[in-house]
Amino acid sequence: MDYDSIPIPDLYVQARRLPAGAMDLWRQVFRDMLPPAPSIRRVLDLGCGTGRFTEMLGDSYHATVVGIDPSLRMLAQRAPPADGTAHFIAAHAEELPLGAGSVDLVFLSMVYHHLRPGHAVAEIARVVSRNGHVFVRNPTRETVPEFEYMRFFPEALAFDLSRMPPRDGLLATFASHGLETAAHRVVRHPFAASSTEYFAKISARAISSLQAIPDEAFARGLAAFERHCRNAPDRPIYEPVEVFLFSAAVETARHFEDRRFRAETARPSNVSNAPKKRRQHSHKQKSVIPSRSEAVSRLEIVESSRALKFFLEL
Ligand SMILES: C[S@@+](CC[C@H](N)C(=O)[O-])C[C@H]1O[C@@H](n2cnc3c(N)ncnc32)[C@H](O)[C@@H]1O
Repeated sequence: MDYDSIPIPDLYVQARRLPAGAMDLWRQVFRDMLPPAPSIRRVLDLGCGTGRFTEMLGDSYHATVVGIDPSLRMLAQRAPPADGTAHFIAAHAEELPLGAGSVDLVFLSMVYHHLRPGHAVAEIARVVSRNGHVFVRNPTRETVPEFEYMRFFPEALAFDLSRMPPRDGLLATFASHGLETAAHRVVRHPFAASSTEYFAKISARAISSLQAIPDEAFARGLAAFERHCRNAPDRPIYEPVEVFLFSAAVETARHFEDRRFRAETARPSNVSNAPKKRRQHSHKQKSVIPSRSEAVSRLEIVESSRALKFFLEL
């Protein structure tokens, strides 16, 4: 979905802000699931949007963080960087302007369902370092029906059931690029502190599935949802978000190199059978997504090229 052509960027910061308790919970989840700080020096917040998690990732790791997102309007809403450790680039996940093995942690929050998974995960596998990690925070087809507001918007539910990854499919896509599953959890976080706030957030329509349905279907669902919220006890609203941790373990990387080597050497003799390095194959994908207005998207938004050299040159 092209966020530059829908109203979400103007609404996102306000309507998708998480209650303080939820941000604390996510800090704790990162601490529990991710490796400790010294092993993570460079972080990519992929599909960072307005940078809801970008600064927090930098703070947690005292790491250099780069946020990448193709939407200039989402990037424009980000908070001014506090201490200069976060940098932003406009680009697509399917064509990352980063060096091979240049990132220790790739973080994706609520973005996987917007990607062309095969191409994007090939790029992620290329840029993540050996022994690096990928953290995915996303609903799956299995958890979408549990979102309370979805009961009132059947068209949005149908849309999400068709575009969200099935859990097994997501695991298989990462596995097919040599990224092995290290952990999986369903985190139930407080999405809104009260029924009143829940209604305010949903009525802002800052969720892409609510943008995708006809205005009439949204209005009908919202009227019923308002009645529901008015009659509901005032309580925090919890929603399920799945988290997956993948690791580019050296052993796994070796296994994939061996497998690729065997596949290459089994080719007919008129095809080159020279073994290719693990990270080279994804370069073939680079031309698949046409770049958007390069001059604007790539460079205008890059801040502090000094720190970015770290990522680009490795
Ligand atoms: C729901 S927002 C999530 C933003 C942020 N990660 C967060 O959790 O607040 C989804 C983001 O995915 C971005 N996106 C869409 N297609 C993308 C692509 N091909 N590559 C990278 N990001 C993409 C959108 O521009 C948007 O900012």
